[in-house]
Amino acid sequence: MSLILLLLLLCNCSLASQTNQNISKGTTITITESWFSPSGDFAFGFLPLPTNSSLFLLAVWFNKTDDKTVVWSANGNFPVLEGSKLQLTTDGQFLLIDHTGSTVWNPYQSSGAAYAALLDTGNLILAATDSTPIWQSFKFPTDTILPTQVLFRNTTIRSHLYDHDYTDGKFELSLQSNGNLMMFPLALPTNLTYDAYWETNTIGSGTQLVFDANGTLYLLLNNGTRINITTSSFSTTAYYQRVTLDSDGVLRHYIHRKNGWTVVTSVPSDICNTVNSGTGSGACGFNSYCQLDENDHRSCLCPPSFSLLDPDKPYEGCRADYETPLCDGGDQSGMFEFKEMVNVDWPGSDYEHYNSFNESQCRENCLHDCFCAVAFSRGMDCWKKKLPLTNGRATASLLGKALIKVPNTSFSPSPPPQFPNTKKGRKVWLITGLLSLAVSLLILFGSIITLVRRSQSNHKSLAPDSLFAGPAMRCFTYKELEEATDGFKKELGRGAFGIVYEGFLPSEPKTCIAVKKLDRLLQEREKEFTVEVQSIGQTHHKNLVRLYGYCNEGINRLLVYEFMSNGSLMRFLFGSSRLGWDKRVDIAIGIARGLLYLHEECHSPIIHCDIKPQNILLDDELTPKISDFGLAKLLGRNQTQTNTAIRGTRGYVAAEWFKNMAISAKVDVYSYGVMLLEIICCRRSLQMELNDREEEAVLAYWAYDCYREGKVHMLVGNDAEALADFDGVMRFLMIAIWCIQEDPSQRPIMRRVNQMLDCAIVVPPPPSPYSSSERFTRSPDCYRPLLEG
Ligand SMILES: *[C@@H]1O[C@H](CO)[C@@H](O)[C@H](O)[C@H]1NC(C)=O
Ligand SMILES: *[C@@H]1O[C@H](CO)[C@@H](O)[C@H](O)[C@H]1NC(C)=O
Ligand SMILES: *[C@@H]1O[C@H](CO)[C@@H](O)[C@H](O)[C@H]1NC(C)=O
Ligand SMILES: *[C@@H]1O[C@H](CO)[C@@H](O)[C@H](O)[C@H]1NC(C)=O
Ligand SMILES: *[C@@H]1O[C@H](CO)[C@@H](O)[C@H](O)[C@H]1NC(C)=O
Ligand SMILES: *[C@@H]1O[C@H](CO)[C@@H](O)[C@H](O)[C@H]1NC(C)=O
Ligand SMILES: *[C@@H]1O[C@H](CO)[C@@H](O)[C@H](O)[C@H]1NC(C)=O
Ligand SMILES: *[C@@H]1O[C@H](CO)[C@@H](O)[C@H](O)[C@H]1NC(C)=O
Ligand SMILES: *[C@@H]1O[C@H](CO)[C@@H](O)[C@H](O)[C@H]1NC(C)=O
Ligand SMILES: *[C@@H]1O[C@H](CO)[C@@H](O)[C@H](O)[C@H]1NC(C)=O
Repeated sequence: MSLILLLLLLCNCSLASQTNQNISKGTTITITESWFSPSGDFAFGFLPLPTNSSLFLLAVWFNKTDDKTVVWSANGNFPVLEGSKLQLTTDGQFLLIDHTGSTVWNPYQSSGAAYAALLDTGNLILAATDSTPIWQSFKFPTDTILPTQVLFRNTTIRSHLYDHDYTDGKFELSLQSNGNLMMFPLALPTNLTYDAYWETNTIGSGTQLVFDANGTLYLLLNNGTRINITTSSFSTTAYYQRVTLDSDGVLRHYIHRKNGWTVVTSVPSDICNTVNSGTGSGACGFNSYCQLDENDHRSCLCPPSFSLLDPDKPYEGCRADYETPLCDGGDQSGMFEFKEMVNVDWPGSDYEHYNSFNESQCRENCLHDCFCAVAFSRGMDCWKKKLPLTNGRATASLLGKALIKVPNTSFSPSPPPQFPNTKKGRKVWLITGLLSLAVSLLILFGSIITLVRRSQSNHKSLAPDSLFAGPAMRCFTYKELEEATDGFKKELGRGAFGIVYEGFLPSEPKTCIAVKKLDRLLQEREKEFTVEVQSIGQTHHKNLVRLYGYCNEGINRLLVYEFMSNGSLMRFLFGSSRLGWDKRVDIAIGIARGLLYLHEECHSPIIHCDIKPQNILLDDELTPKISDFGLAKLLGRNQTQTNTAIRGTRGYVAAEWFKNMAISAKVDVYSYGVMLLEIICCRRSLQMELNDREEEAVLAYWAYDCYREGKVHMLVGNDAEALADFDGVMRFLMIAIWCIQEDPSQRPIMRRVNQMLDCAIVVPPPPSPYSSSERFTRSPDCYRPLLEG
């Protein structure tokens, strides 16, 4: 090695003149220059980024390895452009100045440095006249530790986001101020730390993390004991070495032989099966799974019928290639089949476990459960998993089979529905494609404002006066409604239980109405029809949609509402015409009033079961009105709980639906909380689009992360009106977090929600919505015997 160095010194005088030299005051290093340590092993200067050669990183790197491995960088998060320079000013300040002339990095913000130098250890120092370092890169590591480097308490090493991307990544190794050495995943962009996946448990005793000159990395305890972290040591004179926290969260000890770096120790040895946070997506992104490649590095892969959100960034997760069902009641039979994956599992997404189902029963059960996206079968055990899939990993010893529910390619939907012009036509089927149409069409769903009280009276007059004045809920004939809708011509939208048509009553002036024609499924369930009519018929509140009348003739069941021109809240939250913050506040309060009325104040308490923006309609003055009582379940007077099959829509349903727990009005509180988050943030509760940050995909997780980390402003983005009412946003967010508590008994009742919204009572700081006992529906213990066996 010294011979090579000697040759270098002889043939390259300009290089030689830089080697062995101190960087003295008044020196400027331009983007094309590098400085070297005396041995030439390390270089310091600007490196073009491998991903974009017009951006430069101020870095220290191994100069003699083929790949010029970077060991430290000053500006990973803000690379500079051509024309930038590094200066050691005459008054001894070390400055990185970008092409515009502004200082972007200044590590030691006072004068006093006599010179700067890159030492043979790879340490970049600023030294005083007596050569004592006043600043050194070894004290501010990025993702790498070098031999002879010592880290003290309260120091962290942060992984890079991706290989060749030097921005801050998702994992941190930290020698905490209490002496514990830990590795944990972080959420981007909030920097929230999740549970540690590796630690030395040395609270009170860990003092220094040492990578000694003999190539051993160990934690030194205060009684002198060492805890070895690397498992083998290699002489530093024979090998280049480094310990790097790689972008997949593994701390690796690399040694360099002539043909590249070799991993000698990995901690933890299997990252895929070690990261296991209750929240967050795991070692890879949502809907993907983590598998170790032949070099024991993490690769993030998608299950069948899923593909990467961004093929260049596999760690960001996957998205379903098919339209995921809304689970709002439509029939799914025949639409799905399974693809098998052996030894892959997503333990974070379980919502139901059976211990007496063989594989075919497991398949059958999942197929008929709209919320089931994946089933996992092992022996007589069957777990059902819902989207988004989290903590996915491939584990050789799992001894089970994941069954991925994918669209049935040989399935052909029934022919398009034909709507009868006469009562003889009965082919009103809710078909497959309808599921995806349902949401968009629902926007158009209209409704009514009129007096509603139960009555048996049977007016023939269609004049609006009598409708508004009289107490009667009208009973229409089928013929009247057929004429009013011009033969069911103009469709306004489709809901879970039927299709809505526009119509006019032949009065002066014309009264616009919305006629909901209940589909065949429901026509066969006569009781539900009566229930719906009765429940709506007895409600009377400013924030509830009014029923105008109905038709119950032969096989035909229809409901008549007044048409509401502004459609559903969804358009005003997620569309281009977003409402301002003040209006959103009014709407959130209005909906809460309506729900309180349904739960406590009306004739017989009603649980709505499907609260979501599509079911909130707005009148001309943007007063919110809760609609679609198709799912409402009437409660007896003294009854507060009821049992029923899962109802509701993905993203808004509370956990107790999945747990065979009794269903109470608290399910509406949960859905209200999710919707309140959507109202605050103007974004959907589940969002798996390209360009979205993975951590933001599940609004409930992200909102709580932002709350816990004091970064609430990130939730409202550039909504200036909301930012101006920061206290209001904070109060609404805290209320929403109370509402989405996983444990129903922790959620407030609607009366209390209303009091908190009205500032009548102070909102106490909410706890985490995910109580620790419920973080895993399957305890990690289930894994252990198998992993070891
Ligand atoms: C750098 O400067 C210091 C202090 O002036 C001196 O002690 C040291 O020998 C110099 N190093 C080199 C390599 O010139
Ligand atoms: C650093 O690496 C470059 C490119 O491989 C080489 O030309 C140069 O001689 C090296 N410098 C030293 C001091 O070894
Ligand atoms: C490289 O970065 C520059 C500056 O940010 C940008 O203008 C340019 O588009 C980038 N080029 C590529 C290929 O991404
Ligand atoms: C650790 O670092 C943080 C932030 O840099 C600082 O606030 C804290 O006082 C430090 N703790 C100790 C024990 O040095
Ligand atoms: C997260 O930490 C990085 C530094 O590690 C910092 O640059 C960034 O601003 C932090 N993000 C937030 C949202 O605080
Ligand atoms: C390196 O190992 C040698 C012999 O095994 C030992 O004498 C020396 O103290 C060690 N150096 C360090 C820094 O641990
Ligand atoms: C030092 O402390 C550690 C943990 O606190 C203990 O396991 C070890 O036995 C101690 N060693 C000595 C020499 O006291
Ligand atoms: C730690 O590593 C050093 C050097 O490899 C070795 O001498 C020592 O026995 C190891 N200690 C333990 C507890 O394994
Ligand atoms: C897939 O569709 C075909 C044709 O409609 C049907 O015969 C088959 O049973 C379906 N498969 C499943 C698993 O439902
Ligand atoms: C699974 O169980 C069902 C019901 O007990 C039985 O009919 C079926 O044959 C079983 N299937 C297998 C593959 O054992």
